[in-house]
Amino acid sequence: MCGIVGYLGKKQAAPILLGGLEKLEYRGYDSAGIAVLADSSLEIAKTVGKLQVLKDKLVDNLPAGYMGIGHTRWATHGKPSDTNAHPHTGCSDAFVVVHNGIIENYQKLKEWLINKGHTFKSETDTEVLPHLIEHHYKGDLAAAVQDMVRLLEGSYALAIMSTKEPDKIVAVRKDSPLVVGLGQEEYFLASDIPAILNHTRETYILEDGEMAVLTADGVTVYNSLGEKIVKEIFHVQWDIQAAERGGYPHFMLKEIFEQPRAIKDTTSGRINDAGIVDLGLQMTPTEIAKFEKIAVVACGTASYAGMVGKYVMEKMLRIPVEVDIASEFRYRDPLVDEKTLVLVISQSGETADTLAALREAKARKAKVVAITNVVGSSVSREADEVIYTWAGPEIAVASTKAYITQLVAIYLLSMHLAQAKGMISQHEAEELALAIKKLPELADEVLGQAANIELWAKSIAKWEDAFFIGRGIDFAVGLEGALKLKEISYIHAEAYAAGELKHGTLALIVDNIPVIALATQEALFDKMVSNIKEVKARGANVTAVAFAGNEEIQASVDQVIYLPKTLPILAPVLTVIPLQLLAYYAAVARGSDVDKPRNLAKSVTVE
Ligand code: M6R
Repeated sequence: MCGIVGYLGKKQAAPILLGGLEKLEYRGYDSAGIAVLADSSLEIAKTVGKLQVLKDKLVDNLPAGYMGIGHTRWATHGKPSDTNAHPHTGCSDAFVVVHNGIIENYQKLKEWLINKGHTFKSETDTEVLPHLIEHHYKGDLAAAVQDMVRLLEGSYALAIMSTKEPDKIVAVRKDSPLVVGLGQEEYFLASDIPAILNHTRETYILEDGEMAVLTADGVTVYNSLGEKIVKEIFHVQWDIQAAERGGYPHFMLKEIFEQPRAIKDTTSGRINDAGIVDLGLQMTPTEIAKFEKIAVVACGTASYAGMVGKYVMEKMLRIPVEVDIASEFRYRDPLVDEKTLVLVISQSGETADTLAALREAKARKAKVVAITNVVGSSVSREADEVIYTWAGPEIAVASTKAYITQLVAIYLLSMHLAQAKGMISQHEAEELALAIKKLPELADEVLGQAANIELWAKSIAKWEDAFFIGRGIDFAVGLEGALKLKEISYIHAEAYAAGELKHGTLALIVDNIPVIALATQEALFDKMVSNIKEVKARGANVTAVAFAGNEEIQASVDQVIYLPKTLPILAPVLTVIPLQLLAYYAAVARGSDVDKPRNLAKSVTVE
């Protein structure tokens, strides 16, 4: 996730671009850049680091000119660096591009362009774009952009300028947001409304495939066939604070609702319909075959993603998988060696205990694969291999979209390892691939139940204790559900393996106490119903989370949240969503500071 801006008008562009980027820094902050065009002369300033680094660099020499584009980056392809920062140009400076999204087929396009004599400077997927425009340009920038986008697979919001046509900015989008701002003789572009709200409230919200051409005479919008269309003006009514959160009252809710997109990005270009997974890992099948166990090491939510991973990997790979809390692993003289694959999971890639555990594992000669959300983070630099989750920056302290993309990365890794070990049939791989690709759509369906979940959450908000029960992979998700609830609503919550209740916890069940029973696993369904009856008999108020089609559960509980059907092994991706929403709405009902809960920090870089 990155942020892009553009300006064309009668004012100096650079201060407006930097002001817009400031409002978009939540979308990415590992590097920033701007390009300003004045009478066919292009000036580009870009640098690794937060936007402030760029501002400091430009304080006494802002590029002059009345039109420009800008970018704040959250690295996906290529580490954060001056060279990888946007804007990007082709072989010459004739075409300059900023991009938000992922070009899935960039490797193929890059090879093709290199064969045609193009030379590349960066490691990014984006750089293919100015080269492609160079290739297609025949005197009409908008036409060259139209020709280029036909070749692209993946997602993009683009702003493009050219010294050959220094009177216009061309913008186009697919699966990444892009807004055009309409001022008085000045026009704006942005990934998100806050970037332009200081200047105008009149906007065009571009749809997939639409292209806008900004000139001093106004903005012309074309559809994907290149035909001019009349766009309806959208008048923004939100205030600036709400707009920064995309109209959501909290970042956490915004991030929960971003999950379908985050899942899609994390699978993007990594799995095909035949079920072949390409995570860019270097481990050979021979190396993979020699692993005798997998040790997952992480903290908090990331460790609970690892718990789901234990069930998934043991089932698919038939080798033991241990899950360790990093702060325990590092001091426990862990039993890992060169026959162990250590999977380190960390959203931030900077958690002190996780990093120390990673170093401990490497010192013991284990192979370390990391799943992290932050390109260039310490974990990503020190691991032997990295799988990035492409969730985009997570602002709320409570992890949501990072967790869900960690799960997706675990599924992809498990498939990759199973393929290398010959432990997955073609039919199973295809079935899984199809089901994984459907997850964004199903996640959207679950989010459609938010209003009902809010009502349910309000009833639970009155309690000081709640219990999550489940068996197998559902138990693993229960752990995350309980953490979410206690972390932001401050309700004491515990997750139990349902079969364990009668060994002690049942003593805590009193009249009407909320119990959330996760019952998605068909093979364990009858057992779960028996456990539900145990707590019901002691007076609990039970809400079940189950797949649609299992309506018989209704008779045993007080209410049910139904999930759309997917493969049982993928259920956690959907099951966790109502639990995140429950925690969120309960916290709101109790008046907690949802995005910054007491005593907690987003990145725990101390022991
Ligand atoms: O950045 P990390 O994934 O390494 O962080 C690990 C935990 O601190 C983190 O998941 C924490 O538990 C979250 N606040 C939970 O929502």
